[in-house]
Amino acid sequence: MAAEVIDGKVVAAEVVEKVTNATAKLLADTGVTPGIAVVIVGEDPASQVYVRSKGKRATECGFHSVSHTMPAETPEDELLTMVENLNNDPAIDGILVQLPLPDHIDEGKVIQTIAPEKDVDGFHFINVGKLGTGETDTAFVPCTPAGSMILLKKALGKSDLSGLNAVVVGRSNIVGKPMANLLLADNATVTIAHSRTKDLPALASSADILVAAVGRPEMIKADWVKPGAAVIDVGINRIDAPEKGEGKSRLVGDVAYDEAAAIAGSITPVPGGVGPMTIAMLMANTLASACRRAGVEAPTY
Ligand code: GUN
Repeated sequence: MAAEVIDGKVVAAEVVEKVTNATAKLLADTGVTPGIAVVIVGEDPASQVYVRSKGKRATECGFHSVSHTMPAETPEDELLTMVENLNNDPAIDGILVQLPLPDHIDEGKVIQTIAPEKDVDGFHFINVGKLGTGETDTAFVPCTPAGSMILLKKALGKSDLSGLNAVVVGRSNIVGKPMANLLLADNATVTIAHSRTKDLPALASSADILVAAVGRPEMIKADWVKPGAAVIDVGINRIDAPEKGEGKSRLVGDVAYDEAAAIAGSITPVPGGVGPMTIAMLMANTLASACRRAGVEAPTY
């Protein structure tokens, strides 16, 4: 039987609607408007597209939204000063510095300069540590794994993952490691696999929950997938598509979608799966930060 397709566009729209309604209520009740600042250094076209869509979505949610585009040759000091100014700006609840940064800038230093209570990316050591120790009520959880968990729970129809084997392929700080922590917090039995893992296909095919976050187009084939498994594809890879015409390209995930979908129980497509959830969760994290400032409870999703 073909897998259930998990529609991230629909679920993301539900999250955004909830954020929009809660933002209006927050303003009416407390006079607080959530504020988000997105900082981009350089002219990478893909990053500029992401930053524009983040700003657009924030405005739709009713947020105060600012974006700062800095030239590629901006000295590290100047970027750190920009972050400190945003830390001290009372109208800003969430700060996102778009990664990757140019080579001459120490990414770690910039991330650790963001005030943890405004770190809506969840990359600061304080937020990483809170997630790792189960303090999920006050941690900012990185947006892509947070959104992936919502899709996964919808697909499985339950939030307790007791007794389920989860394999996360990829060990990045942005996705793989926080995803593993979230799965563990919900009682899954979790393995993180990576490029040095022995017999990856055999390990992957033992997973009831398979999360692909490696950034390799269509690496995960049908024989890596356990029949009936829930497959979450975090990869967004642009590949040549000569069949669409000369110079054309298309987006694919880390999973060979058609063949995996014939085996899986549920699967996220690319595009239209995890991708839309990332921006939705950035809005949710920014609203949560503003709710903390106002001393009111944030919505759950
Ligand atoms: N670049 C790619 N994904 C992300 C993300 O989630 N946050 C930031 N800041 N940069 C990114």
